[in-house]
Amino acid sequence: MAFKALDHGKLERNVGLLGLLALIAVMIGGLVEIAPLFWIDSTVEKVKGVRPYTPLELAGRNIYIREGCYVCHSQMIRPFRDEVERYGHYSLAAESMYDHPFQWGSKRTGPDLSRVGGRYSDQWHREHLKDPRSVVPESIMPPYAFLAEHDLKPGDMAAHLTALRDVGVPYTKKDIERANADLAAQADPDADAADLAKRYPKAQIRDYDGDPARLTEMDALIAYLQMLGTLVDFKAAEAQEQPK
Ligand code: HEC
Repeated sequence: MAFKALDHGKLERNVGLLGLLALIAVMIGGLVEIAPLFWIDSTVEKVKGVRPYTPLELAGRNIYIREGCYVCHSQMIRPFRDEVERYGHYSLAAESMYDHPFQWGSKRTGPDLSRVGGRYSDQWHREHLKDPRSVVPESIMPPYAFLAEHDLKPGDMAAHLTALRDVGVPYTKKDIERANADLAAQADPDADAADLAKRYPKAQIRDYDGDPARLTEMDALIAYLQMLGTLVDFKAAEAQEQPK
């Protein structure tokens, strides 16, 4: 063996040689870890339907992060049968390609939320967030009733979208210009949101918190929850893969 031929005693007593060989070993390890990142664009396959978040969804996502929902909820379905049967199709890399930071999580005190969109009504979410025990008696989730009392103050969404564009999220110039207007329009049933719907396919436009007169943190958080996992049409993709 090559290792036997190399006298370990000599190597360990020669700091220069040991340093050099250690450096080479670290360089090989570094290369193996870093090189794939140069081809990240081709590593993450594009998937039809995945789009950047609307400003309202993004504001809701920020509340999700602020409140630490990720401490108890993951957003990553692993490709195992028990997970797929419970939560739906396993998560694709592309589904979190516009996430900064990602919300995969590492702890499931509560269920995975990556496909919770459309599973419950807005009213269910309102009641659940205000008082989880009112709809799930055995729940240990804390209540977040204050979200319905707080007006949504997301700051300048144009600046937020610009920052995300700088790290690779493909927001257009128009998306950025209209960010603050889009945010208000998505939760306002009376607003003309046709343009928003065109730029953000499958955007759900309605009042979420049960009070159309107010735009609250509850509106934004439920808008985010209701879009999770709804962008990719897995039924259509599967039908295409296996023509029957
Ligand atoms: C202390 C842990 C904990 C925290 C923090 C927490 N949850 Fe939960 N969550 C749970 C548990 C446990 C359940 C399952 C029981 C239930 O439905 O209430 C749950 C259930 C849910 C469900 C229903 C999921 C389903 O498929 O039935 C949603 C939606 C949800 N949580 C959203 C949130 C959001 C949004 C936040 C942050 C504002 C949050 N949770 C914070 C523990 C937590």
